[in-house]
Amino acid sequence: MDPAVRAVLGVCMRWIHIASVVTLIGGFIYARFVLAPALASLPPSERELAGGVAVTSFRPLMFFVLIAAIGSGMYNYSNKASFPPGYQMWFGIKMLLVLHIAASAILYSVRASSQAKRNRTALSIAISGLAVVAISAYLRYLSLR
Ligand code: HEM
Repeated sequence: MDPAVRAVLGVCMRWIHIASVVTLIGGFIYARFVLAPALASLPPSERELAGGVAVTSFRPLMFFVLIAAIGSGMYNYSNKASFPPGYQMWFGIKMLLVLHIAASAILYSVRASSQAKRNRTALSIAISGLAVVAISAYLRYLSLR
């Protein structure tokens, strides 16, 4: 591949990856720490209704950014020039957490749940998401040092 095309593609895929994961994890942090307290101020029947509407509204964007994050991540991985010692182990741990995030996000958006259950799921996704961001920063450090 032409080096200029490869460079442009690399930057675009990095942008897609970062923009997708910011939207995905940021959405769940918002759901747990901003939306949930707002919904808690409503009477129970309205809370469940409004929570359901919020989940339905987030669903298409959630699936879009999840697929974009996985696709761009696969591109980033398959185009890495070399893998320093320790990289594969941390990448494997990242993939296990990504699996948890993806499975939980899909269940969050398709399963009929109570608002309390949704809040727990959103918190677990936010925690795993922040751990994945930390591991990714370490992977980058390993690649650059
Ligand atoms: C919830 C899902 C994910 C999150 C939150 C996440 C987060 C991140 C972040 C913050 C970076 C650093 C960006 C940079 O500095 O360029 C990154 C890089 C990367 N991600 Fe992901 N990612 C996710 C999913 C995936 C998946 C599914 C794959 C592979 C199939 C993947 C593969 C990679 C690779 C190879 C890099 C480059 C790491 C390096 O610098 O060596 N990611 N990810």
